[in-house]
Amino acid sequence: MWAAICGHVVLLLVLGSLGWIAIKQVVQPLAKFTAAANALQPEQLGPQLSETGPSEVVAAAKAFNEMRARITHHIEERIHLLSAFSHDMQTPITRMRLRAELAADFPEREKLLQDLAETERLVQEGIAYAKNAHVKAEDFRTVDLTSLIESIAADYQDTGRQVSVVAHPKGSIVTKPRALRRILSNFIDNSLKYAGAAEIAASRGSSGETVIAIADRGPGIAEDLLDAVKKPFVRIEHMNCEGIAGAGLGLAIAQQLATEIQGSINLRNRPAGGLIAEITLF
Ligand SMILES: Nc1ncnc2c1ncn2[C@@H]1O[C@H](COP(=O)(O)OP(=O)(O)OP(=O)(O)O)[C@@H](O)[C@H]1O
Ligand SMILES: [Mg+2]
Repeated sequence: MWAAICGHVVLLLVLGSLGWIAIKQVVQPLAKFTAAANALQPEQLGPQLSETGPSEVVAAAKAFNEMRARITHHIEERIHLLSAFSHDMQTPITRMRLRAELAADFPEREKLLQDLAETERLVQEGIAYAKNAHVKAEDFRTVDLTSLIESIAADYQDTGRQVSVVAHPKGSIVTKPRALRRILSNFIDNSLKYAGAAEIAASRGSSGETVIAIADRGPGIAEDLLDAVKKPFVRIEHMNCEGIAGAGLGLAIAQQLATEIQGSINLRNRPAGGLIAEITLF
């Protein structure tokens, strides 16, 4: 009797273990699929899935990798189109500007020249965005945080713009300085555009990360739009800021560059009004 019960218990344990192993075999590839799908971002597509294992898993992994390749191709095609379009627009715009400059004075000449300068800037932004998507050329190097921040602020102050440095720790960081400069300039340009002034503050986090924040006292951004504005061509019209020109690319470029320097950008509203745009460098 006892022997029979023990036999059954052992059988149940063996069957249970086998069942558990079988479930694990099925679930493990699913976990890998979930991780790969979550890692699939337009800025960084993540690694390919390994095409090994039972035939069903291999077929699913192949389908996933082919989908990943189609997305890469689609993004590259769009970037190429943007780059080609922006590039081709440059010549006629330059021609129009030269014609307007050479033409005899006419009533709306100044306004036309202003519009053309703005169009030229937008086209250049388009080219810069397309280029950023490809250019990975800059190397990481050690830069002194104080000099970097002071020199960015000085560039703005020299042309009479209200950019101040509130605080920064001493020491150096390892980064791609041109990319970082561009990110911070895009944040500062926004603060100047939408708030009239920008404050730069850097600090070190408890895990050794460096946070560089650009703060202003402007209108801020509605909480539910804080993520959306980081996407290309997304703009919001603020009250009292109507007519402020822009392509909606500044933050998208910053986001793209941040990925390239292993940083992450974050936007948040200040409790007393205004926006903080910050980059965390690990
Ligand atoms: N400091 C800020 N204060 C308030 N709103 C902001 C601020 N920074 C960005 N925004 C909002 O986010 C939107 C997207 O910003 P982004 O820099 O990407 O584009 P843009 O400034 O409109 O154009 P571009 O930078 O291409 O000239 C802006 O249109 C603006 O509505
Ligand atoms: Mg901007």
